[in-house]
Amino acid sequence: MAEQHKFYGQEEFSKGLEGVIACESKLGYIDGQKGWLIYRGIEIGDLAEHSTYEETAYLLLFGKLPTRKELDEFTQKLVNYRTIDPRVADIIKSMPPTAHPMALLRTAFSALGAYENPEKVDEFDLEAWTELGIKAISQMATVAAEVGRLRAGLPPVAPDPNLNHASDFFYMLTGKKPNELEADVMNKALILHADHGMNASTFTSMVVASSLSDIYSAITGGLSSLKGPLHGGANERTLKMFMEIGEPENAKAYIEDKLARKVKIMGMGHRVYKAYDPRAKILKSYAERLAKLSGNEKLYTISQEVEKVMIERLGKKGIFPNVDYYSGIVYHSLGIDSKMFTPIFAVSRVAGWVARVLEYLHSNRIFRPRAIYTGPLKAEYVPIDQRS
Ligand SMILES: CC(C)(COP(=O)(O)OP(=O)(O)OC[C@H]1O[C@@H](n2cnc3c(N)ncnc32)[C@H](O)[C@@H]1OP(=O)(O)O)[C@@H](O)C(=O)NCCC(=O)NCCS
Repeated sequence: MAEQHKFYGQEEFSKGLEGVIACESKLGYIDGQKGWLIYRGIEIGDLAEHSTYEETAYLLLFGKLPTRKELDEFTQKLVNYRTIDPRVADIIKSMPPTAHPMALLRTAFSALGAYENPEKVDEFDLEAWTELGIKAISQMATVAAEVGRLRAGLPPVAPDPNLNHASDFFYMLTGKKPNELEADVMNKALILHADHGMNASTFTSMVVASSLSDIYSAITGGLSSLKGPLHGGANERTLKMFMEIGEPENAKAYIEDKLARKVKIMGMGHRVYKAYDPRAKILKSYAERLAKLSGNEKLYTISQEVEKVMIERLGKKGIFPNVDYYSGIVYHSLGIDSKMFTPIFAVSRVAGWVARVLEYLHSNRIFRPRAIYTGPLKAEYVPIDQRS
């Protein structure tokens, strides 16, 4: 076994930082045993039922539901900020359209950060960070939509100031104004994904911002982390899995084979939830409805078979569908390319990244964990021509 060298103050090691408390927060809370999620004390189901993405973003950023006047002003800011520098489209066009849209989004958003020049504000000026944060939340929708259009060889669609954020994103992405159901689903999807504790992408954003870098760098870090299949990339992989299964009667054998090979089933399991993810419950009803309406019933039936097998096999271990399990069927049924599922997640989660970065900056301390050194304490430097 490798040697371990403890250093002063080092008490214990938690792989993947499981259970480690990295900060205090008033933003949101997850009870993983109950399958319960709140933003600023308000249950996620209530927000999905009654709120809008604009209002939820305001709640996350400012800690309270806005008055009508506050919401109008905030909404107007988002509308104004949705028009972005046209050079961002040139940057997207200059990249290979075969690259994953998350790679395009990460690069384009980072480039937008260079045009916005966040260094022009004082790094200790939290009001300036907040304003740029609001701007970035709005801009994410435009950049993601441009990525979706340009990689498909289509021209970008200019934002429509008369649409709310979720509908305008749908319009800029698809070129079609959403009907009532589409507008409702997009709004709910953006609310449900907006924040979720100290997940990998949020923590990444916070780590970047804790060096007093800037909000665009922090968000670019968040995008880089979200891209991975163990995090935001799971929605795209989940749909791919349903398609690979092909027929409902294949589901059991497919899952048993994966489990026997210790391959993780996408859209299942969670570090915090050991019960059914409340966001998945809400999306499930939309997945069923939309799948029927769009002729994707078979995909939904397959999802039900997989869910049944997984709960029978691993429910006792606390493995249930997570938010990514049903979002793929929802977006696919809306006619959206599966490669764009994770960028849609980013369009929503950027509110959580910004809100948590700002909250942490109010009592900032640079993040700096340590590692247990398991290497040798004394090794000889061997000149290159004497090495074997
Ligand atoms: C989300 C996730 C990364 C959490 O990881 P984690 O907290 O490190 O959980 P672990 O990998 O330690 O899993 C604990 C146990 O459950 C099993 N498990 C967890 N998720 C599983 C899954 N999706 N399919 C099959 N088994 C799973 C693990 O194999 C492990 O079993 P073991 O105790 O026999 O070794 C993990 O559940 C996963 O990879 N899920 C699929 C990807 C996904 O949907 N991500 C989106 C999350 S919102």
